[in-house]
Amino acid sequence: MSVRHPLLKTSIHGFPLINPFLLASASPTASADLIRRAFLQGWAGAVTKTIKPDSMAVSDVSPRFHGWRDSAGAVVGFENIELVSKRDEAYWVKTIADLKTEFPDRMVIASLMGDSRPASWRNLACRMVEAGADALELNFSCPHGMPEKGVGAAIGQDPAITARITGWVKDVARKPVIVKLTPNVTDIRVTALAAVGAGADAIAAINTVESITGVDLDTLQPYPLVGGRSAYGGYSGAGVKPIGLKAVAQIAGAVSVPIHGMGGIRTWSDAAEYLSLGASVVQVCTEVMVSGFSIVKPLAEGLACYLDKKHFFGTEDLRGRALAKLSSHEGLDRSTQVRPSAARHEDCVLCGKCLVACRDGGYQAISIRDRRVQFDLEKCDGCSLCRVVCPEGVIEMNIATETKEIS
Ligand SMILES: Cc1cc2nc3c(=O)[nH]c(=O)nc-3n(C[C@H](O)[C@H](O)[C@H](O)COP(=O)(O)O)c2cc1C
Ligand code: SF4
Ligand code: SF4
Repeated sequence: MSVRHPLLKTSIHGFPLINPFLLASASPTASADLIRRAFLQGWAGAVTKTIKPDSMAVSDVSPRFHGWRDSAGAVVGFENIELVSKRDEAYWVKTIADLKTEFPDRMVIASLMGDSRPASWRNLACRMVEAGADALELNFSCPHGMPEKGVGAAIGQDPAITARITGWVKDVARKPVIVKLTPNVTDIRVTALAAVGAGADAIAAINTVESITGVDLDTLQPYPLVGGRSAYGGYSGAGVKPIGLKAVAQIAGAVSVPIHGMGGIRTWSDAAEYLSLGASVVQVCTEVMVSGFSIVKPLAEGLACYLDKKHFFGTEDLRGRALAKLSSHEGLDRSTQVRPSAARHEDCVLCGKCLVACRDGGYQAISIRDRRVQFDLEKCDGCSLCRVVCPEGVIEMNIATETKEIS
């Protein structure tokens, strides 16, 4: 079975995993039945929807999602204003115990959110560990609703509170403690260091990015429209991948504990990029909400093929390999430059997008003559805008034989 390819076997916190793909804490892990169906499809583990103490009231709104689509209709960005789990502690105790009995080889991580008292975090942590949770993930990162109550991202935006609450849980937890961080900070390394300094065994990143995905221009109400009003939401899906990749790379450079990488993973190559920037495992949410649990098969198959093709002995061998290629801007090489060529000119549809882009956002170096795109390399500055905008993949950038001062 492809989800069990030998190259995908890995482990985290000493727990052996059939592959590096875990479900992130969210709607697809909101019940025992959902997690059970995901495990049957081949997910190696799941982080439960965030569990809160019974004393904390939670009331969701409807609707609570809004999608941002590309011109072909695919959801490329997703906003939610959903709160944590509405199910009670007893439900989660039974669910975790049942799942561990039924799927002992799958990792079940309990995501937790207490209130401002140490006992609320500690009681939840102890109950879920006793139920059989393999690890705990502390939700210091939900950007909507919960921060108004002083929890969620309100914790992850304050390194001192991050350290204090991590310490409360570490005092009692007999299982690894993962701290899930928010990207809605100036420098995520500061909170990662605070969490690890207080004993966190791993970091998970990113939770959603605070957002407004649009405004209904008839009613002038921001989305999602909830009875005539809206609220800032959390943005996820493909659109946040660059933010997630940067966060994971920065965390990997700052701390040495394992990282659960996430944010916008849709394909095996997205996952491979996270691993190459330092993640030990990846978590997925939005793409599962959009396309279902079965995506784990192409994810696993694609990653196994890639590892095999590149002669990596496993995901651990890929982990962090791209980090060494990150430098300060000052440290970048100024001695090489690139110039465009219409390498696949037979695919050119003469749409003129490259010409317009270079004319108004570049260096006026493109013309179309004799039904072919022509580059004036005297004028060209090697910026690569033309390659970015070409919808047909016609333009290649090649190392220039002659360089010049970039204007
Ligand atoms: C509808 C929805 C509900 C979510 N609920 C939670 C939650 O309860 N706890 C949590 O830690 N993260 C929650 N998240 C954040 C995800 O776990 C994840 O960090 C984020 O969506 C980025 O990953 P993605 O781009 O694969 O979705 C939620 C995300 C979505 C879209
Ligand atoms: S690389 Fe930049 S300057 Fe050169 S042709 Fe393309 S868009 Fe114009
Ligand atoms: S953008 Fe691409 S397809 Fe369009 S004219 Fe330029 S090279 Fe041809």
